[in-house]
Amino acid sequence: TFVVTDNCIKCKYMDCVEVCPVDCFYEGENMLVIHPDECIDCGVCEPECPAEAILPDTAPGLESWLKLNAEFAAVWPNITNRRDPPADADEFDGVPEKLERYFS
Ligand code: SF4
Ligand code: F3S
Repeated sequence: TFVVTDNCIKCKYMDCVEVCPVDCFYEGENMLVIHPDECIDCGVCEPECPAEAILPDTAPGLESWLKLNAEFAAVWPNITNRRDPPADADEFDGVPEKLERYFS
């Protein structure tokens, strides 16, 4: 499966939603997550994210992100249509430790 990681938070560009063939993105206030049981590992979303926030779960150190994606995909609503990103999205691109500072 692929997972959404830290740099999505407060960027939420949503280009990923548009390309996913199985609509397995789920929406929180500040970020999206991927449902690990629904993702078919096609990989098309990874290069589409301007924030480079989507990675395969085989990348090192992503266990906690996989858990977070699974946990919140179970409770957040499914999102199938892209909307505009937050107006200040670009200001948050690359800001460190967003999980600790801005996750909600
Ligand atoms: Fe969707 Fe494919 Fe990305 Fe999985 S890898 S979230 S199936 S676009
Ligand atoms: Fe987030 Fe990137 Fe999608 S910033 S909403 S994972 S396009």
